[in-house]
Amino acid sequence: AALAPAARTLSGRHILVTAGPTHEPIDPVRYIANRSSGRQGFAIAAALADLGARVSLIAGPVALPTPAGVTRIDVESALDMAAAVDAALPADAAVMVAAVADWRVEAAPQKVKKGDAPPALHLVENPDILATLARAPNRPPLVVGFAAETERVVDHAAAKRLRKGADWIVANDVSQDVFGSDGNAVHLVTAQGAESWPRLPKDEVARRLAQRIADALQAAR
Ligand code: CTP
Ligand code: CA
Repeated sequence: AALAPAARTLSGRHILVTAGPTHEPIDPVRYIANRSSGRQGFAIAAALADLGARVSLIAGPVALPTPAGVTRIDVESALDMAAAVDAALPADAAVMVAAVADWRVEAAPQKVKKGDAPPALHLVENPDILATLARAPNRPPLVVGFAAETERVVDHAAAKRLRKGADWIVANDVSQDVFGSDGNAVHLVTAQGAESWPRLPKDEVARRLAQRIADALQAAR
């Protein structure tokens, strides 16, 4: 028997999603990266598209197929991701799931050669894409950030929500194995407080979050 299609409660909405790690070049052949698989962000993009949204998925380097019905924009570095987010506006909501590198390297224009002493990397702070978006004049009405925390998860996430000007923070408890795994234990932190979800497969976290976003945009209409 065919399943009933999910109500297309996000049709006519444009939602921006960032996902995956960023790669920060050291020189033309080397980079700094992190362990983000991109799976949670891709699952959220897919769940939003399933509810009828037009989704712009700004993806760092990941080995994942593009979800059906999603427009994917591939980027490498945090600076590339910031520019792609800006170019994808306006949007009705933004979900910033990417594990953006906090620092970039002052990259060498040519391949660094092995010499006598190992080279020192000079790190420079990257722009905060979420905080910049949340304070932009063309800010989407709903801005959702993620937070990977290993301790005092809800407290740190609540502080991050205020510091960055996000409406919601999905706080990820990464004291358990999240990176590359299928399950996620998250807390949804809003102005109203924190709601703890049970440990769920990433697809299910995505479906619940997409539904909450649909409800919030519906209520604001
Ligand atoms: N984020 C971003 N741009 C950055 C760093 C983070 O957009 N340069 C976003 C992430 O996509 C996520 C949120 O900010 O939605 C929180 O990221 P996180 O790394 O947890 O926060 P930081 O402020 O970088 O704090 P820290 O890593 O020190 O915990
Ligand atoms: Ca960070």
